[in-house]
Amino acid sequence: MGTPFLQALRACLGDANVLVDGDMDAYEVDWRKRYRGRALAVARPASTAEVASVVRLCAAHAVPIVPQGGNTGLVGGGVPDASGRMLVLSLARMQQVRRVDPDNLTATVEAGCVLHALQAAADAHGLLFPLRLGSEGTCTIGGNLASNAGGTQVLRYGTARELCLGLEVVTAGGEVWDGLSGLRKDNTGYDLRDLFIGSEGTLGIITAATMKLHPRPGWTLTALAACPGIDAAIGLLRTARARLDAGLTGFEVIEGFALQLLARHFPQLRQPLHAPGWAVLLELAADDQASAERRLHAVLGDATARGLVTDAVVAGSLAQARELWQLRESIPLAQAREGLNIKHDIALPVSAIADFLREMDATLHTLVPGLRPVVYGHLGDGNLHFNLQAPQDMPAAVFLDRHEAALNQRVHDAVVARGGSFSAEHGIGALKAAELARRKSPVALAMMRAIRQALDPQGLLNPGRVLPPA
Ligand code: FAD
Ligand code: MLT
Ligand code: ZN
Repeated sequence: MGTPFLQALRACLGDANVLVDGDMDAYEVDWRKRYRGRALAVARPASTAEVASVVRLCAAHAVPIVPQGGNTGLVGGGVPDASGRMLVLSLARMQQVRRVDPDNLTATVEAGCVLHALQAAADAHGLLFPLRLGSEGTCTIGGNLASNAGGTQVLRYGTARELCLGLEVVTAGGEVWDGLSGLRKDNTGYDLRDLFIGSEGTLGIITAATMKLHPRPGWTLTALAACPGIDAAIGLLRTARARLDAGLTGFEVIEGFALQLLARHFPQLRQPLHAPGWAVLLELAADDQASAERRLHAVLGDATARGLVTDAVVAGSLAQARELWQLRESIPLAQAREGLNIKHDIALPVSAIADFLREMDATLHTLVPGLRPVVYGHLGDGNLHFNLQAPQDMPAAVFLDRHEAALNQRVHDAVVARGGSFSAEHGIGALKAAELARRKSPVALAMMRAIRQALDPQGLLNPGRVLPPA
């Protein structure tokens, strides 16, 4: 039977949609296996009305809630803490595509809709939903918006925030805010939508969203280029931007050691370039095949003549393009197989990136001899994944325990000194809540706390995440 709370929850959702004990395992551990908590129960509502009922029940019984979508988040914000008191509110059963409006270029979907399903729904109408992440087969639109996900097309189409026009949200009091506008212009007071985007489940539960669609490009072309160093990769970016302008849809970098990890853990993936110092994965969109090829060859020809590119392959088919993208998207998995690591998801002005990397190269090895940086990311929008793997002979647990705090401080100091951000696209979650409290100004922190207090006065929405307890 359980407690009065669990009885009421079962009466609301049915026994099959309230999980307890051993049935909760997959909901209690994050993708990286860095956070393993214990939940009171897992609730699996199927509609906005059911979400609202669950939230009202939680408010009445003072039960803290952790919302969960696809559970692919990388900052420990979507799994319960160790207290055994939190209810995991899974949106996984709310997957409907409610409406695609081709004239308005919008789609309205429920929060648990998997990103890939929205891409497919847009495609079925000859349109494009351009958010693209390595986790797109599992992550959900609700999670994408709650964490303001970025991914590989940001330089052309923006982050999840820029792709969202409207939201439906269940408030901490269990009321439903219907803000599912499909308008591009609406200046009627404070922008509530933008408040919830990126709030990581701490201000309300996103139950549905209206997202922007785009016309599908006539032709897309992908290439992988070898660059002798990061300065050359940045030179190639400048050239590509100048020649392609809005036609440049992807510009990813991968440092040589990340490719070595791929070769070690995914030997079945073909690597077409021979041991490059840096590789750049470039994607462009054009009206047709001939103009795409002409424009790409102009970029690569120009960059090769200037010594920025030493070798390159251009995908000759969709399958080859997929293979090149698979290389890039498999890096987080290869790194996970190598062992638990320290992730730095940083944003910098592109003009500061080479200097930042030089400073890291010169200083971090003195802190931890043998340290193995794994560097890759979305150079086109200034977002690097500057991850640190333990020295070969040091167990990952020892590495994290002894060195994580000092390495974080050194890396984030260098980022902030250059006007950068210590969380570009993954959010704050549990992992970086203390860092946020340390690095945000007192004015910013006070405003954040005031917003949270106003929207969630009982402090039941994802407590301890984003902002640590006061
Ligand atoms: P979850 O992990 O379930 O939750 C994430 C956060 O949002 C949690 O704080 C949770 O409480 C909250 N939340 C979830 N749903 C809701 C809701 N409906 N209402 C309110 N709060 C909610 N991220 C990028 O930005 N760019 C990338 O390129 C990228 N690539 C990735 C590649 C891999 C292989 C993996 C594993 C992850 C990657 N991620 C990336 C991180 C992650 O996939 C994204 O952050 C994604 O947006 C999370 O979606 P999710 O549904 O899995 O959310
Ligand atoms: C990526 O760009 O691959 C993701 O943000 C995931 C990661 O950094 O692990
Ligand atoms: Zn990323």
